[in-house]
Amino acid sequence: MSIPRLSTFLVVLLPTFWTAAVSVRSSTLLLARSHSLLSPNTGAPLTVWAASLTAQSAADVTRVATLTAAKAKTKSKGRSFVPIAPGRQILSIPNYVARARLGTSPQTLLVAIDPSNDAAWIPCSACVGCAPKSSPSFAPTDSSTYRPVRCGSPQCAQVPGAASCPGGAGASCAFNLSYGSSTFQAVLGQDVLALEGAGAASSYTFGCLRVVTGRSVPPQGLLGFGRGPLSFLSQTKDTYGLVFSYCLPSYKSSNFSGTLRLGPAGQPKRIKTTPLLYNPHRPTLYYVDMVGIHVGGRAVAVPASALASFDPATGTGGTIVDAGTMFTRLSPPVYAAVRDAFRRKARAPVSAPLGGFDTCYNVTGLRVPSVTFAFAGGAGAAVTLPEENVMIHSSSGGVTCLAMASGSSEGVNAGLNVLASMQQQNHRVLFDVANGRVGFSRELCTA
Ligand SMILES: *[C@@H]1O[C@H](CO)[C@@H](O)[C@H](O)[C@H]1NC(C)=O
Ligand SMILES: *[C@@H]1O[C@H](CO)[C@@H](O)[C@H](O)[C@H]1NC(C)=O
Ligand SMILES: *[C@@H]1O[C@H](CO)[C@@H](O)[C@H](O)[C@H]1NC(C)=O
Repeated sequence: MSIPRLSTFLVVLLPTFWTAAVSVRSSTLLLARSHSLLSPNTGAPLTVWAASLTAQSAADVTRVATLTAAKAKTKSKGRSFVPIAPGRQILSIPNYVARARLGTSPQTLLVAIDPSNDAAWIPCSACVGCAPKSSPSFAPTDSSTYRPVRCGSPQCAQVPGAASCPGGAGASCAFNLSYGSSTFQAVLGQDVLALEGAGAASSYTFGCLRVVTGRSVPPQGLLGFGRGPLSFLSQTKDTYGLVFSYCLPSYKSSNFSGTLRLGPAGQPKRIKTTPLLYNPHRPTLYYVDMVGIHVGGRAVAVPASALASFDPATGTGGTIVDAGTMFTRLSPPVYAAVRDAFRRKARAPVSAPLGGFDTCYNVTGLRVPSVTFAFAGGAGAAVTLPEENVMIHSSSGGVTCLAMASGSSEGVNAGLNVLASMQQQNHRVLFDVANGRVGFSRELCTA
């Protein structure tokens, strides 16, 4: 990717963002942020794994974690509001982070919240390649409540991919997986987990990282908020009833002024919603039906097939809402139409592309056309992005770019539209899995 004539700010900023945004990243899907994994072959293991997980998930009745939310120091009426901050300033990662306490006595970690992942992966002490030694990790031997998960347990069967259990049912459950462009080795364990502002889950199942290659795994671990059996949502189902929402503060902030709200209590009463769709080929992800895009108040003409729901036969296409990807990626024909409409409305000369963004301007007083995403569910189900969610600015040089790009036309991500975190800043996004809906409302949560 060529990055010509960059300002100092963008030189630092864009590569970081861009690596994370190149495709939907999710370890459980064996996808990557790099171009290298976009070959059509990546579809094969995915399909096999997805089919087995769907079966497991349907049969899954075990819920290992029990919560003590009532006893937690929640604000009122059982509300669980977890403060979140962009990890960019704090940990140099594109994900949003929350403070978690793991074990007894509690060990504090800044975990990345990942809605497109199913399990939790935490760096454990003596992990090779996890993060610098100075970075916090979890020491299982210092926790009186840590228990390894054995090969014969139901949780061991729930981790994507095949566990390696040469030692039989009593051996500890070990995995090799990939996350983004990283691969890792981990063992499954259980311990008390509490997010700041929420109750503690008494035996939360997570992967204890032992060896990591690559740099995609967040340095203090991640907590999957996907829809699979080992996700936070599933493990806390009895307490939070498969409902959560977040408000993502501006990526430029370093304050914990955003919130992750867990459970039905405290969610907005008035919120525009659209049906949540389930793609059996990619059961982790939150699919919605995006039916149109407006630029400058006018509907952009895109082939209906390009915005349609995912293909039920192959699982490709469709639109997901994700907070681990930084910039929205639209399927190639959709992006081309949006970009052309945007350029026509902006009526200014387009300058050289920057770090993967192809619609950049070096003019003062650019009139930025509005961008609206319309969803199935009636006239009200549309989100018009504020300008700060549309353009990325350089701090010097005055260059601004449309902060979206074209997605993949091949492989498992072919035709997939990803509504990413930059476009969700300062909105409350509700994931109500229990009632099959996703909601959006404007909420300023940046301090
Ligand atoms: C993971 O990979 C390592 C190194 O290739 C290997 O020694 C180990 O047996 C593998 N473990 C599992 C669980 O597959
Ligand atoms: C938020 O963080 C910034 C630094 O990023 C700081 O200057 C500001 O005072 C903080 N705001 C609040 C309300 O804490
Ligand atoms: C933007 O325009 C200014 C003045 O017109 C110029 O000095 C600067 O080099 C331009 N920046 C880029 C990145 O083209």
